[in-house]
Amino acid sequence: MKIQDLEFEPFISSADVQARIAFLAEAISRDYAGLTPVFLPVLNGSFMFAADLIRKVTIPCRVSFVKIASYVGMESTGDLRTLIGHEESLFNQDLIIVEDIVDSGLTLRKIMDELRSRGTRSIEAVALLRKAPARERSIDVKYVGFDIDKEFVLGYGLDYNGLGRNLNEIYKALDYPQDKT
Ligand code: IMP
Repeated sequence: MKIQDLEFEPFISSADVQARIAFLAEAISRDYAGLTPVFLPVLNGSFMFAADLIRKVTIPCRVSFVKIASYVGMESTGDLRTLIGHEESLFNQDLIIVEDIVDSGLTLRKIMDELRSRGTRSIEAVALLRKAPARERSIDVKYVGFDIDKEFVLGYGLDYNGLGRNLNEIYKALDYPQDKT
């Protein structure tokens, strides 16, 4: 399958994704029994994963979508990235960040640091995919769907230049330069 300049091949089937999500939802429901956690899916990439995961969770919970907004700064220091969208008070709540993919882990680390500064009761993360760099840096992701190498993937919410989010399974790019991921 070709999307723009890249060729993709099937990587993780829809059945495997759903089976793994059922496992993650069961683990979360068990670990948070007696609590009412707040799921914070990070848009855009996690919309499909979050919808499937949260509907399989069997304990009471809340959901509030967040987004990382990038503002290109005037200074040469580059992007200023900030978390937007969370309206409810997160004070004293048990938060579960829902991420599509953790690559370097810098995005997740920033989100967790920012939320922690608001006095949350606890904060953990669930990611459908985790790449090798995040593992090497010991980025704190309590619930991981699939550990993958340093490949570029799309489908099931994940995009390449905005395309491919609608695909029901996960694909990986052929011959993607390793230094680009
Ligand atoms: P990190 O800050 O390096 O962990 O990057 C995380 C974000 O980069 C994810 O939330 C995705 O939006 C994007 N990303 C990283 N790897 C991929 C990929 O293989 N496919 C699509 N998006 C990716």
